[in-house]
Amino acid sequence: MDITSTDHLLSTTRAVRRKLDLDRPVETEVLTECLRLAIQAPTPGNAQQWRWLVVRDQGIKNELGKLFREVGTEYVRNTVTRLGDAAKEGAGARALASGQYLIDVIEQVPVFVIPCLQGRPRGGNEALSVFYGGIFPAVWNFQLALRSRGLGSTLTSYHLEREAEAAKILGIPDDVTQVGLLPVAYTTAADFKPAARTPVEEISFLDTWGTPLA
Ligand SMILES: Cc1cc2nc3c(=O)[nH]c(=O)nc-3n(C[C@H](O)[C@H](O)[C@H](O)COP(=O)(O)O)c2cc1C
Repeated sequence: MDITSTDHLLSTTRAVRRKLDLDRPVETEVLTECLRLAIQAPTPGNAQQWRWLVVRDQGIKNELGKLFREVGTEYVRNTVTRLGDAAKEGAGARALASGQYLIDVIEQVPVFVIPCLQGRPRGGNEALSVFYGGIFPAVWNFQLALRSRGLGSTLTSYHLEREAEAAKILGIPDDVTQVGLLPVAYTTAADFKPAARTPVEEISFLDTWGTPLA
């Protein structure tokens, strides 16, 4: 395995919003290829309860986009209030502007991919971990596969606040759960940078909680 390219892929797969190419069409073949790689991910008991809805129809994207925009706009407004001065400059301001951009152009993104799970979330921590754990590793595989082919996406959750309305638009049965919406497009940038993160030494422990790992 080529560790250099693997590490580059793993450390530079970002939430892409402003660098989505809204004009370049996305072929079905590349999406199928990425979904084929996505479903190499693990699932609890190998149950593979995932289902994937690829949306290209402009009328449907407009309807979903409306839900996305209404919930997203409210989220951004609340975040600006919560962050106060931190929303006005630096990383906070950049993240908000990036989020707002995606909200503004959402219907223009060529493809939406909606990962779904058969069943509804129920129960306590174990049941919920197993439920959602049945798809998020695959969602990330999908995003990595997109990135390696020059496409980008952001895992978004806004529209889930109006999940039932989205289900009606999309014809999704009552016993199927949507877990997000990925706007997918080719990217206008050829490369991305690793993100700043809290150092691993501050968040990893050895044997007992609080004992530094390194
Ligand atoms: C479960 C989940 C839900 C998210 N929901 C949204 C969303 O609704 N809107 C959005 O713009 N980004 C959303 N994101 C993307 C995060 O904001 C993003 O991953 C984070 O800011 C870190 O940026 P990076 O992925 O480029 O490192 C979500 C990410 C995850 C994992």
